[in-house]
Amino acid sequence: DSPESIGSKDPLRFSNGYTLQKDVDLSSNSSTESPSDSSSTKAVHMKKRLGLASGTAMIVGTMIGSGIFISPTGVLAGTGSIGLSLIVWVACGIISLCGALVYAELGTLITKSGAEYIYLLEAGKSLPDQLAPVPAYLFAWISVFVLKPALFGVIALSFGIYTLEPFYGGCEVPDILVKIVAILCMAIVAFVNCYSVKLASKVQVVFTVAKLLAIALIVAGGCVTLAQGGGFEYLSEGFEGTSRDFSSIALAFYDGLWAYDGWNNLNYATEELRNPHKNLPRAIMIGIPLVTLCYLLTNVSYLTVMSKETLLASPAVAATWGTAVLGKASFIIPIAVALSTFGAANGSCFSGCRLMYVAARERHLPEVLSYVHINKYTPLPSVIFSTLMAIALIIPGNIFSLIDFFSFTAWIFYGATMACVLVLRRTRPNDPRPYRVPTIIPIVMLVVSMYLVVAPIAHNPRIEFLYAALFVLSGMIFYVPFIAYRLQLTFLDPVIRFIQLSLQVAPSAYLPP
Ligand code: ARG
Repeated sequence: DSPESIGSKDPLRFSNGYTLQKDVDLSSNSSTESPSDSSSTKAVHMKKRLGLASGTAMIVGTMIGSGIFISPTGVLAGTGSIGLSLIVWVACGIISLCGALVYAELGTLITKSGAEYIYLLEAGKSLPDQLAPVPAYLFAWISVFVLKPALFGVIALSFGIYTLEPFYGGCEVPDILVKIVAILCMAIVAFVNCYSVKLASKVQVVFTVAKLLAIALIVAGGCVTLAQGGGFEYLSEGFEGTSRDFSSIALAFYDGLWAYDGWNNLNYATEELRNPHKNLPRAIMIGIPLVTLCYLLTNVSYLTVMSKETLLASPAVAATWGTAVLGKASFIIPIAVALSTFGAANGSCFSGCRLMYVAARERHLPEVLSYVHINKYTPLPSVIFSTLMAIALIIPGNIFSLIDFFSFTAWIFYGATMACVLVLRRTRPNDPRPYRVPTIIPIVMLVVSMYLVVAPIAHNPRIEFLYAALFVLSGMIFYVPFIAYRLQLTFLDPVIRFIQLSLQVAPSAYLPP
């Protein structure tokens, strides 16, 4: 297909010069160069709207969602003792920090957005030509259609549950109502993300501060209890009852790591970070230890007023804590959890659609998903499409069951990304690495990831894991015609023109730092 045949049809132009046609950079593509590298035509660039504070909020505010208010039960059940459960909470923090430090090297070496996707794409270049883009493509496939929408959906559902709960005084909230509120939450988040990146990052900062205050309140409550001389009896149980079953301890790690998930969030938007070489490692080194400290202290505070038995029986630990410590003011807790989940939903939407945007820009998804609004510089089509995907996932069923599937699949790709560091050190040894992670960390993280993938299969070999693996591989059905053989669906061009005109979006390109 000669580029002229696409580019020569009278190009529509917006008044500010952005073209409204698929003519951008298709013409200058050589097969070796990635599409987003070419910038000979006027394409929209996303602006650098994130600084250190908003970057850190992207990490902290996405990691702290509903997990810390609910998961302590699972971690304690798996570990069997208070002592070991606290150790697991800290260990999960260390795992997340190590993972994020590996991503800090990758994100400062390759400053394109898209996290795992873009690192797999770069490291994949050392594979034989035909296979090179496959790992990245499969990651995009499973993330765009299942993982990211499921994350966004789960968090929105938690938001729904916690906003409605106070009105139902302990009775079960109707499912349909939870879903309606969840969809409302997603719609608001999507609107914010379509409206402006600045607004989305402000929302992220404000909600991050709010949830840190909520955690400070819980920690302060624990301190007061301890200062009054109470609260030591449960903590002093220490390691009594520690589980010796390896697989149940692995389950504790899953619950803990779920609460920490989101440590890679800023890598999805490296391009929009000012001075990423400095700010990415800094945001990681500030954000993740902060979250670890918060989680540890929150757990200690829970245990000052709750026995092991009470904690294990509690469906929502924070609420039980609130009733015990805050008395009449315990209504603060559901509000705090609602705020926390809303902020996490915003961060999840932000990163999820960046991934879709980058994969589309590299032509692994329909190109129109990489278009950017010509005045607002927001990736409108990807925000809208990823929100619709998330809504489609939550309407039919219970997607909390997707969380198991999530950990399994996510750690396959986290592990592969750890390996990317080692590959890129060999294939691009002389490229500048503003941050260099000690080599032992990616190696250990690779082992940890393999364990986290294999353990659930060994522990409980359910057929679902096979389905999950098959679903990942089924992406090849689209890969062969559309990417390997570059099949173009030209009959869809009028639809794309319509989308461009109605959303006022134009092709975008990568802007180096
Ligand atoms: N850790 C969060 C929680 O405690 C969930 C994070 C979702 N992950 C993500 N990448 N958006 O609820």
